[in-house]
Amino acid sequence: MQPPLISPRRVLFVCLGNICRSPAAEIIFRQQVEDAGLSGEFEIDSAGTISHHEGSPPDSRMSETLLRKGYTVSGQARRISAQDLEKFDLIVTMDESNHTDVMGIDHTGAHHGKIRTLVSFCREHDDLRVPDPYYGGQIGFNHVISLLEDGCAGILDSLKSK
Ligand code: 4NP
Repeated sequence: MQPPLISPRRVLFVCLGNICRSPAAEIIFRQQVEDAGLSGEFEIDSAGTISHHEGSPPDSRMSETLLRKGYTVSGQARRISAQDLEKFDLIVTMDESNHTDVMGIDHTGAHHGKIRTLVSFCREHDDLRVPDPYYGGQIGFNHVISLLEDGCAGILDSLKSK
């Protein structure tokens, strides 16, 4: 059982490169928030645990998959910083590796409670992680989006009930 969230409104999605999973999560969650008429209530962003792709737009395969599903694509990759842990109320990781890395930035453990996995919010999937689609094929990108839509809807519902 996860502890309840304490009124988070600033949500940061984190993956490895910030060009596939976390920008897609940011785009999907922003759309869901807008559809719910709650855009003014949220600040939504994404970041990666590495700086390799800093400044790059989302991966073209991810962008094409999102566009086909009707999403608007934007974003520039950046690396997560220690200040992000202070600023954001909820930090959502994609897999065990980036979860461990984000926890590791939080040296004192003061923010551990707001670092959560995307799959912990899923209600239709029981996957253990959002898999890295970077070296896979199109099926991987479609599955990632399906997981993200499920998890983001779970996040929004959990925050709406606060
Ligand atoms: P992401 O995907 O973490 O979902 O943005 C990846 C992006 C880049 C690399 C790996 C995964 N890479 O090895 O450069």
